[in-house]
Amino acid sequence: MKLKLRDRLLLTYVLLAILGVGGLSLRFGLLEKARIIDASEHELEINAFTVAAAVGAPLENFIEEGEAYITFAQRLDRISRPLDARLTVLTLQGNPIYDSEVDFRKLGNQLNQTEVSFALQGLEQHEIRPDPITGENRLYAAAPVQSENKVYGVVQLSVPIAPIDAEIAQGWLILGGTATVIILLTVAASLWLAQYILKPITQLQSAARSFAAGDLDRQIPVKGNDELAELAHTFNEMAAQLKEMIRKQRLFVANASHELRTPLTNIKLRAEALLDGAMDDPDVSGKFLNDIDHETARMESLTASLLTLSKVDSPVELEATRVKLSPLLQDVCDTFSPLATQKHIELVMDCDINSEIHGNPEQLHRVFDNLVSNAIKYSPPHSRVRLSVEETRTEVIVTVADTGQGIPAEDLPRIFDRFYRVDKARTRTATDPGGSGLGLSIVQSIVRAHGGQINVTSQPGRGTTFVIRLPKSQGN
Ligand SMILES: Nc1ncnc2c1ncn2[C@@H]1O[C@H](COP(=O)(O)OP(=O)(O)OP(=O)(O)O)[C@@H](O)[C@H]1O
Ligand SMILES: [Mg+2]
Repeated sequence: MKLKLRDRLLLTYVLLAILGVGGLSLRFGLLEKARIIDASEHELEINAFTVAAAVGAPLENFIEEGEAYITFAQRLDRISRPLDARLTVLTLQGNPIYDSEVDFRKLGNQLNQTEVSFALQGLEQHEIRPDPITGENRLYAAAPVQSENKVYGVVQLSVPIAPIDAEIAQGWLILGGTATVIILLTVAASLWLAQYILKPITQLQSAARSFAAGDLDRQIPVKGNDELAELAHTFNEMAAQLKEMIRKQRLFVANASHELRTPLTNIKLRAEALLDGAMDDPDVSGKFLNDIDHETARMESLTASLLTLSKVDSPVELEATRVKLSPLLQDVCDTFSPLATQKHIELVMDCDINSEIHGNPEQLHRVFDNLVSNAIKYSPPHSRVRLSVEETRTEVIVTVADTGQGIPAEDLPRIFDRFYRVDKARTRTATDPGGSGLGLSIVQSIVRAHGGQINVTSQPGRGTTFVIRLPKSQGN
């Protein structure tokens, strides 16, 4: 059987209440019952002794002096009248010779009754048993009758057990009533508590359902500062993050499609023009084919970038080996030095360390390719691009610095965003359509995947410096 949380809470509370209150009541009730019975027994035993003392003289007179039975009986009637108990007087042999309530002749010998035999030995003992005549349960006690150190007989006192039972039953009733009231109050309190605890959970549940249905605008009210409030807060935060992620995703797709559409449109326009007759003019057709080639190359590099991004972003662990940085950086310099020379840019490298890092060489290559390509692309002729490497105990620090155009301060925080370009108009000319704005976001993703970090400082007109810190491979 599957119980709802509310019912489980309720059941627990109610069971606890019943066990706790019930158990206490039972224990208290039993103690009280024992106390009532003890008190009655004790009282009866004391009475037996008092009465035995009073019966001493009349019994002695009756037995020793031969006093008339009727006088004896009258004297005993006077003694028994104020008593709440029934008085029976027995001889030493246990034969009844007087009874205050019934005909003693019908009683039979009492010598073997517990209280009587004990009394004759000078001990106290009581017993509850049915009356031989009426059959009702009675409590019996007895005491020896003495006069001047001689034992003449035994007094037997008895009271019906029914009133004691009634008193005990009444006690149980009161206890039971109180316990029931307490348990009902507990149930009411736990109902309220369950409601109170579960309300925020119910709210969370319904909010989670809305989230699942795609409604991320829903906010769960945060009340108080307990664990539930914290949970609600976390939930809201999660929704906000999800929203942001979805927004970025949409923006990314929109940007990507836009970037792909522009070259496609250019290609289509030129192809149409060629089909419409431009093909016959060798000058125009040559230029158009050139343009088409250019646009195709741009699309190629864009799709390559997009592929790289999705690879870098996917949580699959990158294949990593020990990578020596200095040959890798030398390789990057070699690749770009023709381009630098062509732009009259001085490309220098300053690296005299041997440390290795743990990483994927292809992706690390991509990082420095992008940075050096940017440095050359965004620097005017006669600038200088410098690659240098330092190391600390735990890190290798690579700096890519140029003396180029720099990046305005307001753009700096956004240059790692996907598709972000500082000056879209400036870099989009017919001859140089500019990059897609994906390079640095790829760089950042790769550096982070390697457990490193990348920082940038720049002064417009003076130059830009990128600093990459990568953790050293263990064992260095
Ligand atoms: N060394 C630099 N000096 C000046 N501006 C830079 C430098 N590096 C990057 N930027 C600016 O940051 C922008 C983002 O760079 P990023 O490499 O991400 O894109 P991109 O170079 O425009 O295109 P892609 O690298 O995808 O071909 C660039 O458009 C440029 O405006
Ligand atoms: Mg770039």
